[in-house]
Amino acid sequence: MLKYMSAGESHGQALVSIIEGIPSGLSLTHADINAELARRKLGFGRGARMKIENDKAKILSGVRFGYTIGSPVSLLIENKDWPNWQEMMAVDSGKSAAVTTPRPGHADLAGVLKHQSGDIRNVLERSSARSTASLVAIGAIAKKLLSAFGISIVSEVKSIGEVSCTCGQIKDIAKVDSSPVRCQDDNASKEMVKAIEKAAKEGQSLGGTFEVAIFGLPAGLGNYSSFERRLDGKICGAIASIPAIKGVEIGKGFELASLKGSCAHDEIFYDKNKGYHHKTNNAGGLEGGMTNGETLLITAAMKPIPTLGNPLKSVDIITKEQTLAFKERADVCAVPAAAVIAEAAVGLVLAEAFLEKFGGDSLGETKRNFDSYIKTTI
Ligand SMILES: Cc1cc2nc3c(=O)[nH]c(=O)nc-3n(C[C@H](O)[C@H](O)[C@H](O)COP(=O)(O)O)c2cc1C
Repeated sequence: MLKYMSAGESHGQALVSIIEGIPSGLSLTHADINAELARRKLGFGRGARMKIENDKAKILSGVRFGYTIGSPVSLLIENKDWPNWQEMMAVDSGKSAAVTTPRPGHADLAGVLKHQSGDIRNVLERSSARSTASLVAIGAIAKKLLSAFGISIVSEVKSIGEVSCTCGQIKDIAKVDSSPVRCQDDNASKEMVKAIEKAAKEGQSLGGTFEVAIFGLPAGLGNYSSFERRLDGKICGAIASIPAIKGVEIGKGFELASLKGSCAHDEIFYDKNKGYHHKTNNAGGLEGGMTNGETLLITAAMKPIPTLGNPLKSVDIITKEQTLAFKERADVCAVPAAAVIAEAAVGLVLAEAFLEKFGGDSLGETKRNFDSYIKTTI
């Protein structure tokens, strides 16, 4: 239903992305996409790059007079830092010293072995999380489509390093976004900022965890009939594909393993106003690979950033001598941004599942199909 792809190097001229399959008639402006790109910059602990890049997407096709027209939507995000890299990243001929000391925890070593390259820059330019700007831009379109059906996606940082917050479900996304670490708990936010400052001074980096919550989903998105069509697999795959994400849980996730069945599962109730519902949500809104009508809850763990101010041991791929990994300007902590990126990743998976269920070439057609499904629920 939905097809998307992106291209572009971290220090190249621009990032380009295309998404195909968005119905016509969806209201879409530059502001919708740029607001999400601005949220990707949020978070204390980002490196100098984020001060340079004030990402703005240019819609090149697929939108006319503020509405999608059913053709592929293509986007261009220029890299503001490109003028400083023109020679090192030249398409025809240029010059640049090769990067030869791979960073532990990055794509560097496996990437040069895979491509048989003597310059790690050829790998790091695309393996860099810069490409997530494209993901956020096309994810913004998916989020806009879902929002036309009352579905909203939010996220919050739950821990950074050893500092955790105790706040429950996200109530106010504006408050989350105004926190320097995207956490609604003011005390925890202050401690998280201190932990990042300390890590920066020590040449260290920090990871953490975040939650993504999706409200307003109808029951029945996804599919139990084949394992590759299950929505839980698609969601976990999409979030684990974000650079540095090393764990994903749905609902109570790992904690469920230690609970007795009677405590783990969400009992089913019915009343005329609410219809079918549960009083608990340990399953996190997914049962049998399908949405069950409850809030979809996903938690993810991000490892510490691999590029360190105090680099780890590495080996020079040309001389084979033991040395230290190379340094490039880097974030100390990017958990707040990763949570925004995860909103986009899950938005794309859900938009795809939504269009698979309801179809429609125009938004009006999708709406008719959706309304008829909601009305005729058993
Ligand atoms: C928003 C975001 C920003 C990141 N910033 C950096 C960075 O500045 N320096 C770095 O070495 N890694 C950074 N990373 C992590 C690397 O991209 C990631 O660890 C690397 O691509 C290897 O992939 P893996 O950790 O999934 O194995 C960032 C990740 C995200 C999601």
